Amino acid sequence: MTDKYCVIGNPIAHSKSPEIHPVFAAETGQDIVYERCLAPVDGFVDTVRRLVAEGYRGANVTVPFKLEAAAIATRLSERGRLAGAVNTLSFENGEIVGDNTDGAGLVTDIVRNAGVSLAGKRILLLGAGGAARGVILPFLEQGPAAIVIANRTRATAEALGAEFAAHAAQAGQVSAIGFDEIAGRFDVVVNATSASLAGDLPPVPASSFGPDTLAVDLMYGKEPTPFMEFAALHGAQVRDGLGMLVEQAAEAFTIWRGVRPGTTSVLVALRDKL
Ligand code: ATR
Repeated sequence: MTDKYCVIGNPIAHSKSPEIHPVFAAETGQDIVYERCLAPVDGFVDTVRRLVAEGYRGANVTVPFKLEAAAIATRLSERGRLAGAVNTLSFENGEIVGDNTDGAGLVTDIVRNAGVSLAGKRILLLGAGGAARGVILPFLEQGPAAIVIANRTRATAEALGAEFAAHAAQAGQVSAIGFDEIAGRFDVVVNATSASLAGDLPPVPASSFGPDTLAVDLMYGKEPTPFMEFAALHGAQVRDGLGMLVEQAAEAFTIWRGVRPGTTSVLVALRDKL
């Protein structure tokens, strides 16, 4: 019997997940269908209940439902709990299991696709909202020397840093500052602010970047973001968030199906269509 999955969001027409999972399924010989599911903004819980009743095996969750997805889960992975948001639900034996694969997707894109190890590195994380929160634990698991969280509102960065201090391998591994306190060069700079959505550049100093810096914007589009242009101008190697998008999908597929798909051809195909 064909197993059913979908991506739940509002709006949902723009989601690329229905273009990704069928390719993974064909490549790994898995018999699944994967659909778009538009839930009313006040109807996420009812939608999940309907999917469970209809025998769906799982769902991805996107804007604006990731927090509600964490709340509805009867079991949460540690990374889902710490992210405070869930993008992957598995419906198993009456349970709704929640996970968050975004951070793992970013790590895979950096380590495997860009070929940049995070062990012992200095990482500058710009932003302290939901996107930033989701990547901190997966980054810590790679053993970086430092994760410096810089945010426009310093207090939000501090609160986030304090939450993750208990997960640090040593005191000071996670720190929090305002943008005006950013100092020195970093090995990896991640733009997890939503500034790119508005075409803005977060106020990161040019001195953060050098030829050995990898700069990653979590946003993607046809053109490089202002952050990517600025980082490249100052010598950094740059990436957008398309690789993370494909890798978070691969991680979700692996959770559901127990087999890890290749991602290279999907990434090339999506890039061509941007
Ligand atoms: P997301 O879920 O995408 O992370 P969010 O939780 O609303 O969205 O968080 C947005 C993040 O982008 C915040 O860190 C925000 O900074 P503040 O905490 O000071 O609001 C940051 N941000 C948004 N626009 C920005 C801009 N133009 N420059 C710098 N930071 C910006």
